[in-house]
Amino acid sequence: MTGAGNTTHWDSVYGAREEEALTWFEDVPGLSLSLIRDLARPEDPVIDIGGGASRLVDHLLGEGYRDITVLDLSETALDASRGRLGDRADRVGWIVGDVTQWRPDSAAYALWHDRAAFHFLTEPDQRAAYVARMAAALRPGGHAIIMTFAEDGPERCSNLPVQRYSPDTLSAEVGRHAPGLFTAVQGARHMHPTPKGAVQAFGVTVLRRGAQSSAD
Ligand SMILES: C[S@@+](CC[C@H](N)C(=O)[O-])C[C@H]1O[C@@H](n2cnc3c(N)ncnc32)[C@H](O)[C@@H]1O
Repeated sequence: MTGAGNTTHWDSVYGAREEEALTWFEDVPGLSLSLIRDLARPEDPVIDIGGGASRLVDHLLGEGYRDITVLDLSETALDASRGRLGDRADRVGWIVGDVTQWRPDSAAYALWHDRAAFHFLTEPDQRAAYVARMAAALRPGGHAIIMTFAEDGPERCSNLPVQRYSPDTLSAEVGRHAPGLFTAVQGARHMHPTPKGAVQAFGVTVLRRGAQSSAD
């Protein structure tokens, strides 16, 4: 299921429940914030891929980040964030779209953040398209933070099957689609407590974009 089919799924998920009831909800996305603080300055362009209704954007604005874009399939999710932010929403770029089909204007971004979107790409051609977008959107020297369910994490998320990774397998998968372009600079496990008290294992990978792919 890609594109339009997935949009319907995600719009109905976000339309049916309060943000706080979603398993992936975080009031304060502490790990994401601490990684972003280390990797990007407030003036650097940052994009949250599959940002949904996440409060990451609220916190980044609060910390003085001034060039933030949120991309998601679901307009309903982005509407929830825009409603929460009120006037502050005008300071954010909002893109409704599928990351695998999005055409970034230029390699503008210093930081690509993805918490729990990449793992829904269960087909190799979807992952190839994602990595091509990431390569096109990130400036040389920019960083990508990609968080997925870990290899021993849940097999499904929001009722959809997921592909699970460790930092090593995630880096290898990205390398398969963009040989030599990205270097893994950090990898970790993270345990996410869901609102209902379960714990989900995530793999967290930070990649640095080099200047040129060996395939170029
Ligand atoms: C599990 S939620 C995580 C949301 C957010 N990153 C967070 O941490 O709260 C996954 C999000 O990815 C979005 N998504 C899934 N596939 C996508 C795709 N191909 N392109 C853009 N967004 C996608 C969904 O709409 C949803 O908002």
